[in-house]
Amino acid sequence: MQLPDESIVYEYQSLLAPQMEEWTPAAELRSRHFLSPDKLRDLLPQLQTVRSQIAAERELTDIPPELQPLEAGFIDLPQQLLDAHRRKGEASELGRILTVASRLKAETDRIVILGVGGSYLGPRVLFDSLCNTYHNELSSDARMGVPRIYFSGNNFDNDALQDLLDLLQTTCVDPEAGREERWGVIVISKSGETLETATTYRAFRREAAEYYGSSSELLRQVIVPITSQTGKLRELSRADGYTDEDIFTIPDNVGGRFSVLTAVGLLPAAVMGLDIRALLLGAAAMTRRFLEEPYERNPVLQFAAVNYLMSEQYGKPIRVMAVWSKKLESLGMWYDQLLAESLGKQGRGATPLTVVCTRDLHARGQQFQEGQRDKIINNVVVKTQKTPAITIGMADHNEDDLNSLSRKGMPDLLDAAWRGMNLAYFDAARPTANLILPSLSEHVMGQLFQMLMLATVVEGRLMGINPYGQPGVEAYKRNMRAFLRSTNSSSQSPM
Ligand code: PA5
Repeated sequence: MQLPDESIVYEYQSLLAPQMEEWTPAAELRSRHFLSPDKLRDLLPQLQTVRSQIAAERELTDIPPELQPLEAGFIDLPQQLLDAHRRKGEASELGRILTVASRLKAETDRIVILGVGGSYLGPRVLFDSLCNTYHNELSSDARMGVPRIYFSGNNFDNDALQDLLDLLQTTCVDPEAGREERWGVIVISKSGETLETATTYRAFRREAAEYYGSSSELLRQVIVPITSQTGKLRELSRADGYTDEDIFTIPDNVGGRFSVLTAVGLLPAAVMGLDIRALLLGAAAMTRRFLEEPYERNPVLQFAAVNYLMSEQYGKPIRVMAVWSKKLESLGMWYDQLLAESLGKQGRGATPLTVVCTRDLHARGQQFQEGQRDKIINNVVVKTQKTPAITIGMADHNEDDLNSLSRKGMPDLLDAAWRGMNLAYFDAARPTANLILPSLSEHVMGQLFQMLMLATVVEGRLMGINPYGQPGVEAYKRNMRAFLRSTNSSSQSPM
């Protein structure tokens, strides 16, 4: 397979234990904490078996009890969506998404996205990584018709919710004044039962009914539900007069944290003005690489193998995702959920930790360098920036001593910090690898999402843990509902 320049690469050679290294205290530590190439080689047959197993699971219609739950639908979905769009055009899922996104952009200048966990983090990553950092502050012209984007329904946060409602009330006064004064909602919940989202949605439905009028046709134009085939959100939407064609469906065989490339991520992305076909093309290319490429050119198998061995055999239970761009901080949050909910089962599973570099080197760098040897660090590095380099430049007053660096730009500084950190961690026998992104684009983000989701499934199968489902999350929800039923607490009572 010919890889385009846009392909992401996992470089992990720097954490392989150097062969024939002369004995020094550091070399001794590396031999204990770095990955032995022999161990990696020994794992290859098992990796091939797991890949074949995952490939076969995609075809299963009757799911045996030991594999349940099985939510492998995300693997082929990107290509299926693209194929259906080619065949059916506007009538396809992608066609519908593009049509509804155009309507929301034409009708509103502010969109609130409600959802939590897998129904929140994917759209959040897309907004943070691919839209302008100060998108909501830009003028309407500079935003090129893309509404301002807000996120809510991911917490029980009274003040934050009130602040957002106040903002809508003060900026949108007359719905007849046109799109500048209209706002809409995308409400996302697969189960339709998640209280954070459901309660917040109730507040926004009330607000919208007051603003647009409870029988206004506009309500169903500017509020779009995304949910599963059945459940309370679908029932509520039907009761509100939505037909099933007005509601986007999250397929049953796609789990919440694996749903970013369904309508959950694609509708918000299209509203944000992003190229959702490029996202899907990137993801479909990654699925093909996973299924067809040998280990040496297969970042899914490489990432899964290295991280699996590090946590299971080298005593590295903390998995640090060090993102070298502030725009990828929420990618780290998304991966936190993916790893924690997929593999944190039966007393096992690495603990994810996201850091933004260089910012957090000033907070955690000391511990990474000299603290417990319980971590593997995966850097996520973006090779090219969207904007020209801002150089340090010459100044008349050189008291800050920066004139000697005058020709260096921000990318040079970041690059030097990354190399400097990697070298320092190598010297201190701290295992570190690099996930290289050629740029921040839809195609690259599509690859990255799919790569990390597939690698998590591979890792789960290597561990003998079902990566799908999250039974442990139910316990707190049961207790919370019991407390809510048993107490007559008013909205003002303390915890
Ligand atoms: O991965 C999962 O399935 C969960 O984290 C869900 O995404 C999260 O709990 C939100 O659930 P729902 O979409 O049903 O509101």
